[in-house]
Amino acid sequence: MRGFDPKVTPWQIREQDFPHQGSMPDKIRFLLGYAILAPSILNTQPWQFAVSGDELQVFADHERWLKVADWDQRNMYMSTGCALENFLIAADHFGYGAEVAYHPPTFRKGPIASVKLSPRGEASSSMRPELFAAIPRRHTNCDEYLERPIERGAMAKISGCCAEEGILLDIIEDVRIKSAFDDLLVRADTRLFADDRWCEELAFWIEQGVLGVPWLIAKMKSLAVTFLNLGKGKARRDAEILMSSPLLAILSSASDDPVEQVRVGQVMERLWLMATTLGIGVHPMNQVLQVLDLRLEAAKSISRPEFTPQLIFRMGFAEPPKSHTPRQPPVEVSLTR
Ligand SMILES: Cc1cc2nc3c(=O)[nH]c(=O)nc-3n(C[C@H](O)[C@H](O)[C@H](O)COP(=O)(O)O)c2cc1C
Repeated sequence: MRGFDPKVTPWQIREQDFPHQGSMPDKIRFLLGYAILAPSILNTQPWQFAVSGDELQVFADHERWLKVADWDQRNMYMSTGCALENFLIAADHFGYGAEVAYHPPTFRKGPIASVKLSPRGEASSSMRPELFAAIPRRHTNCDEYLERPIERGAMAKISGCCAEEGILLDIIEDVRIKSAFDDLLVRADTRLFADDRWCEELAFWIEQGVLGVPWLIAKMKSLAVTFLNLGKGKARRDAEILMSSPLLAILSSASDDPVEQVRVGQVMERLWLMATTLGIGVHPMNQVLQVLDLRLEAAKSISRPEFTPQLIFRMGFAEPPKSHTPRQPPVEVSLTR
């Protein structure tokens, strides 16, 4: 993976290392250590940053965009939103207020968001200080979940993380709707694994080490994706783990553009961190939305038909994974005016 040093463990970031006496750029660079722990589609980490004075600019990194799987870029922008949210939660924790501006992207240029920090001169006033501690503890949990239901109180805390205008969280417990999604998932997996270009792209990224396995195993996995028809087995496994999950959830947005997708990513990360504090596992299963006709079918299950589904995920209780996926250091570019 580009610039990835296996000796460095970005997950072991230490709060006490915050450069209280340092310059604003030093502080922002430290906070970026939390931003990059965010989840991203296939762990591609498609984000870049520019730092100047008290300002951070956040860019989507088009070199790390999955051109086949994420053809309409929604996952790239949502991933960037997850990183932005971690940055804001960390800034808040260290006593900085943030003014965020969003910028609709011009072709491949310009930041998608910029953040101006200002010291509040007091300890964190965050409504949800517990989210900060969850940043280095968060995982994607792809295991089968226990039958144990998620209590109403916990669910209310998770739902409470989605209060944004124009963003909707649908929680699905109804077994009939879950099995309809199960069917969509099987169809999506089968179609995607039958697509050579999709398999080649997946194999390429696995070989880059995004999944954190040693090079030889990564190579073998990538060969398996390219040459074995894994679609049926994957579809069966995905169907089982989906039905084992107490809850399926969908985040949707009123408008369907990059800025909204960044905002959806922010909500996703916030509720994911909340789930982490409650010991609840989260697993995005977005392949249904990668196939246009299946996406239209999935949209029929959301409570407001005029909204666009952006992210489908399941939640439930399971042991957290033993290790984290790797991270590359923050990639810095020059500031854009
Ligand atoms: C926008 C977005 C879409 C994702 N879609 C999927 C998905 O379809 N299937 C899946 O298994 N994981 C999905 N993930 C989870 C990533 O694979 C995971 O975040 C990444 O591998 C890093 O691992 P971590 O979350 O444990 O840090 C998605 C994550 C994001 C942010």
